[in-house]
Parts: sequence; C-alpha cells; structure tokens
Amino acid sequence: MPISVERASQSRLPGLDLASVPFSSVFSDHMLVAEYADGAWKDPVIQPYGPLSLVPNISALQYGVSIFEGLKAHRAADDRILLFRPYENARRLNRSSSRLSIPSLPDGFFVNALHELLQVDEAWVPPASIGALYIRPCLFSTDESVRVKPAERFLFVIFTFPFGSYYSTPLDVLVTEKYVRAFPGGTGDVKPAGNYAPCLVADQEAHDLGFATVMWLDGVHHRYIEECGVMNVFFVVQQGNNTKVITPDLGGTILPGVTRDTTLQLLRDMEMPIEERRIAIDEVLGLHASGELIECFGTGTAATISHIRRIRYRDQDVLLPPVEDRTIGPRARERLVAIMTGHAPDPHGWTYEVCSQPLAA
Ligand SMILES: Cc1ncc(COP(=O)(O)O)c(C=O)c1O
Repeated sequence: MPISVERASQSRLPGLDLASVPFSSVFSDHMLVAEYADGAWKDPVIQPYGPLSLVPNISALQYGVSIFEGLKAHRAADDRILLFRPYENARRLNRSSSRLSIPSLPDGFFVNALHELLQVDEAWVPPASIGALYIRPCLFSTDESVRVKPAERFLFVIFTFPFGSYYSTPLDVLVTEKYVRAFPGGTGDVKPAGNYAPCLVADQEAHDLGFATVMWLDGVHHRYIEECGVMNVFFVVQQGNNTKVITPDLGGTILPGVTRDTTLQLLRDMEMPIEERRIAIDEVLGLHASGELIECFGTGTAATISHIRRIRYRDQDVLLPPVEDRTIGPRARERLVAIMTGHAPDPHGWTYEVCSQPLAA
C-alpha cells in the first residue's frame, strides 16, 4: 500500500531540549493514519501530528475495541536509525487483532509504515546518550454504533515521542492479592487497551504506599508470580556454585514481551541455565530466606531491564542485594542496550535499519 505524505508546515523540534523531555510529553511532528472500511485497508497517510475528529459513540470508546503496541528506535553513534525487532511487534499486533475481532494489517505494512514515518521524523530520534524514540502503533474501531458486535471500521495510527530513561532507579514493588491483571481465557497474553485501565487502581494504591508498581499473581490461585507492572519478571538464584535464572512461563495470562524473549536469548548466550516455569511467591520468600535469591529484574520496551530492589508481600519484605553487587541483570542490560544502539554486533539480526532509501515494496 503506497503511503502519502503531508508534511507539517513547521517543525516543533528546534529549540527543544530532548535531554529534559519527560516521558510522553512532547510528540513528534508527524503521525501515520490508515483507515479500514468496506473490508479493506486504504489510503495510509503520514500527516502532521494532531487531533482526530471522532464521534463519541465509536466502539473503541464504548467497548474498548482497541489494541496497541510499543517499540523504540535508537540513533547509533554513526547516525543510523535502528528499530528493535519490529517484526515481533507486528506479529503481536496481529495476535491482539485476532483476539478482539479486529482485521489484521496487510503483510509487511506494519514495518513499512514505521519505516516511512521514521524517515519523515528521523530528526526526532535522540542520540543514544540521551534516550530513544518511543513508537506507539494503535488500532481501534471507529464504528459509529453502540451495538455490541464485531466492528467494521477501524483506524491504524502510529505516533512517536522522544524520551530519556523510564525507570532509572531500582524499584520497590508490592505484591497485590487484591487485584488480578489477567486470568485463563482472558486477554493477558495480548495488548488490548482494556487490559490497562483496571490496573491503574492497583498501581495507584501501590504508589500511595511508596512502591513504584505492583507484582501480579495469577488469577486462580493468587500464588504464582506472573508479571511486575508492565514488565515481565526474572529471578536470579545462586545455589552453591551454580547460578540460574527463573522466569514465569507463558501460559496464556502473561504478555510474551519482546524484551523478555530477547533477555532469554542473551542469557542463553551467556550460558546461563534458565528455568521457564511457574514460581510461587512462597518460593521467592524461601529463596530469599536461604540467601539464594540474588537478583530480581523486570523487562519491557520502555524500561529495558529494570532492577528490583524490594518486594513486599503481606508483612514481609524481600530486600535484594544492591545493584553494584549484581552481575546477571546488569550484564544482560548492557548487552541489550549495546545491540539496540548499534554499539555491539547483532548476531541474532534483531535491529532493523531505517535507511534513507525508500523500501522496495
Ligand atoms: C503487561 C505487560 N507486560 C510486559 C510488557 C513488556 O513487553 P515488551 O518487552 O514487548 O515491551 C509490557 C509492555 O508491552 C506489558 O504491557
């Protein structure tokens, strides 16, 4: 599908200090918009970033017929613009589409659209020393009907914004037993907008108690750890001379994070034994009590790898060793950032270069 371009008459970039822009506060000059109607995607256009004209009865607003993705572009030292594993986000968007009765995008369109949009707004990608460009593709229904039924009209929109670091200090997290994020047969393994609003109250209550976010338990037994805020979670365990990493296995209620998958591969590259399996909160408490739990970290696009300092469960605190004493999480993070930013070889072919040549169809 050819993408037309309507350029903004003036860029908002000159004079902006990218080093001090808070997350999600200033948006790049352009966005991509494509419409689905009469059974087909049509007329994708890159246009100036700004309001969309929508009526209030669209099913995205009434019933949450809306899905999204998140990924980043980095500027390498030699000025190349690198996307990180965009085909994974394309695949996950399609999985979200299928789950919410939303039509999928034509093959190749997702990455092509990112490519074209980034060529137009290339100047918005900060130097790697400052941060990255966050990219938010979203797909939602514009059906003007309050009937509860699969929708027929949609918009696919991509907007972007520059940002520095997301979580910079080690996190204190609160295990919640009051709320669940996901349950078997639900939508925990995909990314509908509706997964996120019900989690806000849990996060808010955690913030009020001085925690950065919550650690989610499974929705059936309220016992097995699933995720941490909007991140997948990893535990590093040392038993005698043996170190291993445990992360919850994907069982339909956990989001298959692109960073999770990447981190698993980096850990395998480091020849680290990995157990992908259920891990109960009692097991974490036991490993901590025996001094065997040496690290815990979360993974996600915005956060990359975020070290966890303290886990509160009921009246018990799991206080983890200082980040300076850790090796596995910091090494994985360093490798990840080096590959993403083009500072290290990319043996798995994860980066996608946005070159200045138009893409072949
Ligand atoms: C609930 C949830 N878990 C985990 C992640 C991490 O996924 P990724 O590494 O693909 O950003 C995200 C972010 O998309 C998320 O929303």
